Amino acid sequence: KVRKAVIPAAGLGTRFLPATKAVPKEMLPLVDTPSIQLVVEEAVRAGLTDILIITARGKGAIEDHFDRSPELEALLESRGKYDELKQIRALSDLAQIHTVRQHEALGLGHAVAVAEAHVAGEPFAVLLGDDLIHPSVPLLREMLRVHERYGRSVLAAQEVSRSEISAYGAITPEMIEENLAKVRSVVEKPPADEAPSNLAAIGRYVFTPEIFDALRQTKPGHGGEIQLTDAINLLAQEQAVYAFTFEHGRYDAGNKLDYLKATVELAIEREDVGPTFSTWLADFVQRKKLV
Ligand code: G1P
Repeated sequence: KVRKAVIPAAGLGTRFLPATKAVPKEMLPLVDTPSIQLVVEEAVRAGLTDILIITARGKGAIEDHFDRSPELEALLESRGKYDELKQIRALSDLAQIHTVRQHEALGLGHAVAVAEAHVAGEPFAVLLGDDLIHPSVPLLREMLRVHERYGRSVLAAQEVSRSEISAYGAITPEMIEENLAKVRSVVEKPPADEAPSNLAAIGRYVFTPEIFDALRQTKPGHGGEIQLTDAINLLAQEQAVYAFTFEHGRYDAGNKLDYLKATVELAIEREDVGPTFSTWLADFVQRKKLV
């Protein structure tokens, strides 16, 4: 049974400058919730109870976010703000949250390799914070089910357009049933005209511990970085790796346009601000003659 999740959060966030100059990109909020909290909540919903966040210098706010905050709790209590108090306490009780630092920005594969000691030979999940999955989509839970069935690693995969595939790990799939393929190979960010398919790896993975052996053998690849994709490709030559395909409910929160879309959708679905925001938005669209 998979218990552990690893969340790499050591990236520099250059796509969101200047906001990410002093604030970790994982702390940028969707409405009022930092994106990393949404990712942690997703892992918890999927039944994972031990979460390791890979951080780096300048990411202290992430640790603080999941820590107890006695001063804030005392203040909220003294002011009778019990809802907020409950929310803040629930945050530090979400799961067992650990952090470890990646000392050098050597790539996603390297960041995952930093988790080896903590993972300690168990199968585990990896969730990338740039990919946000809508809370109604049980993607990770379904991937864990595939893992339970086959005992092997599972990637999330989504069809993207030809022009977009060069931003992803591109999979050569061998479909075995609806929504499930065996990964023959996977290549990191190929030029569109060389991509083996337009099936993209999305930032949710379930790994067998053998991924660490593959990571150890992985040389710097695309962009001079140790790529997780290259290690998965090696692993797929040693033992079966599956790709679980899905269609809806993913936002690339590392991209400004998708970040905006996710913010609007999540805001509209909220019980508190949703109704007023929807009315305003409909009116705004009319006033600006957007449709
Ligand atoms: C990473 C992975 C890539 C994967 C993508 C999913 O790339 O390296 O294989 O397809 O996440 O979002 P990044 O978006 O961090 O450049």
